[in-house]
Amino acid sequence: MLYTPENWGSVPESWTRTHLLGLEDLSSEEIVLLLDLAERFRNNVLESPENKRKIPLLVGKTIANLFFENSTRTRTSFGLAGRRLGADVVDFSAGTSSMAKGETVVDTARNLHAMGVDAFVVRHSCPGAPQMIAQSFDNIAVVNAGDGAHEHPTQGLLDLLTMRRQFGRIEGLTVALVGDIAHSRVARSNIFALLKLGAKPIVCGPSTLVSPYWEDLGVRVSYSIDEILPEVDVFNLLRIQFERQVVRPFPSIREYAHLYAMDSDRLARCKNDVLILAPGPINRGVEITPEVADGSRSHILDQVTNGVAVRMAALWSTITAAERKARK
Ligand code: CP
Repeated sequence: MLYTPENWGSVPESWTRTHLLGLEDLSSEEIVLLLDLAERFRNNVLESPENKRKIPLLVGKTIANLFFENSTRTRTSFGLAGRRLGADVVDFSAGTSSMAKGETVVDTARNLHAMGVDAFVVRHSCPGAPQMIAQSFDNIAVVNAGDGAHEHPTQGLLDLLTMRRQFGRIEGLTVALVGDIAHSRVARSNIFALLKLGAKPIVCGPSTLVSPYWEDLGVRVSYSIDEILPEVDVFNLLRIQFERQVVRPFPSIREYAHLYAMDSDRLARCKNDVLILAPGPINRGVEITPEVADGSRSHILDQVTNGVAVRMAALWSTITAAERKARK
């Protein structure tokens, strides 16, 4: 079927958020709404030769990608998502901007807004930076593309979408997040959403990177990947974020890999239908070995494809909500 804005339908009126800053604040209904929108985009636009992977729902809108930290997947997929929806996308790089001359993040955003930007996608190493921008504007969509160790909501959503497409549900799944939980915005966004949708999250890694206080939120804590292998439905293998660590959390990478890397031997002790995920970038031989990363249980590149669909859902829903608010 050839889709147009007329026959595609509109964003449900129940969605009223102009900002997507984290999954902690979202209700389970809002998370499911975004997953459903993303699934429709994936099935009916991105995989539809008839629609040529495009649907003009955001024609006339301009989205600015404000990336103050490196990115491959998130930056490119937000850019593609905006273009697949018919929007203009402006890519901003802090390194070559006038921020080097002392301009602040908010002043930078104000100047881009003055050029007619309708939405900001923000990645920053400081937690709260996207919120700071969101608070500076009325009726402008702001989407958090990862802020320090705080949240990475669209990564959390694409991880959940990948699980739901594989198992047909989130509720009841045992999902292990393994690695650098202490510095991981991906772990936090996953955990908030998994708990709301009735999954059973486990955090696993060295005690220097996994706080026992996660148990207070209803998350199981394990310091041994070997003990949880047979019961886990989904492993999400996180990168060790050396750039955010103040002190080295373990003696050597070799020791970490020996104790926690998902390799063929550990994979053989998992459930037959286990799903192997990793948010990327992956460090082959550290959290995952090449044969597992490239093997049949790995859905790492499927996650990347789902990322475009999730970001189409995030942009369409927040920009539509901002437009509706401005009309009132
Ligand atoms: N997963 C993720 O956020 O990757 P990038 O840092 O490449 O965007």
